[in-house]
Amino acid sequence: MTNCSEKTILHDNVTVGENGTLRFAGVDTAALADKYGTPLYLMDADLIRTRCRLYQSEMKAAFGGASRPLFAGKAFCTKAIYRIMAECGMSVDLVSPGELYTAKAAGFPMERAFFHGNNKTDADISLALDSGVGCFVCDSREELLALDKIAGERAVRQPVLLRVTPGIDPHTFAAVTTGKVDSKFGSPIATGAALELAELALSLSHVELTGFHCHIGSQIFDVQPYVDAADVMFGFIKSVKDATGFVAGTLNLGGGFGVRYTESDPAFDYAAAIRSLADAVKAAAKKHGLPMPTVLLEPGRSIVADAGMTLYTVGTVKEIPGFRTYVSVDGGMPDNPRYALYRSVYTVVNATHADRAPDRAVTVAGRCCESGDLIAEGARVATPVRGDLLAVLVTGAYNYSMASNYNRIPRPPVVFLSNGKDELAVRRESYEDLVRNDL
Ligand code: LLP
Repeated sequence: MTNCSEKTILHDNVTVGENGTLRFAGVDTAALADKYGTPLYLMDADLIRTRCRLYQSEMKAAFGGASRPLFAGKAFCTKAIYRIMAECGMSVDLVSPGELYTAKAAGFPMERAFFHGNNKTDADISLALDSGVGCFVCDSREELLALDKIAGERAVRQPVLLRVTPGIDPHTFAAVTTGKVDSKFGSPIATGAALELAELALSLSHVELTGFHCHIGSQIFDVQPYVDAADVMFGFIKSVKDATGFVAGTLNLGGGFGVRYTESDPAFDYAAAIRSLADAVKAAAKKHGLPMPTVLLEPGRSIVADAGMTLYTVGTVKEIPGFRTYVSVDGGMPDNPRYALYRSVYTVVNATHADRAPDRAVTVAGRCCESGDLIAEGARVATPVRGDLLAVLVTGAYNYSMASNYNRIPRPPVVFLSNGKDELAVRRESYEDLVRNDL
């Protein structure tokens, strides 16, 4: 719906309308704020579909066979997104029984689901088996033994991948680095634990080992760490083959491709990254004399992040001369904890006056009783006044999914935009919702 001649801000789906207000996915944000209120999460469903298709077609072309993306639902998890994933023929990565329940409730075909988690309880394992989850990504010896027992009680043989750590540091921020040897996830290859786990899996009668998984981190703009990880993984696949005769048919290289949050982030060419990764994977398979496996990737952020935007209404604007200007909005860390947690930087736009050039560096503050409740510091915006709409761009990943009710603030609604039309996907929480489970 975006007219190519329109001025865009950071991404093509963010444009300035003739009346000077900000448009998202071809829809006027002021009209959406009027209709649904603020704070408000917006999701560009058409972009989500486009990204799914891009990953699907590029992976099929580059890796061949049944190679495909799994959408990592931890980035954004609602029934509406699983309906889109089902419609697009996507597979998904589920990381908790709650995500599993959401996908199932949306009618997602569970045979296309991969069930993750570093500490699945017996109840989680039972729920996943009874839901017909296609594949478990097993993390530990304890999990394998529990799965074997519980699958045995159901007389089924459950396909699994084993999560291993290749010892790769992708140099992203520490909180999202997961592929190093010192990690709560997976079994290290370097210590021999991963091989032991593979041997255990192969000895169990209700577990069917199909391959291996690794995930090195998130918000990564460089293909090299993936290439390095793939090389280590093929070395591992070869050592498992030599020790046991088992040849992995599936290699899951996890998620993590980066997304442009601000002008200073590079634009990432996902298709080109997939192609160079495929070249490296093919070379590694050849080097180790192994057949080409089915390759899986687990993009979360790069499917939904720039498909999202959060709208707030400005309240207090407080200038402290010699210090800074605080612009307080009607949301904050409960709907976006990423600045508080990671100092993540966002692009902020005065959505009421998107045609005005940014003339002020401001601190965008939330409404919680906590000084760390900030959304951005040093954000350059056209000077806002009470009542203006403020848009925070690229909030589609790890915002709604990480939202809380801190200070008993109800979670905002989520509206999906498609073909210039808006549709409510998650309604605004009410105060009644907040006390629903209180006895
Ligand atoms: N697969 C596995 C096993 C993962 O642990 C993750 C993310 C993904 C896939 C998806 O990664 P992505 O493509 O979205 O980068 N809350 C943090 C991000 C945590 C990522 C956790 N794992 C944030 O807000 O930046």
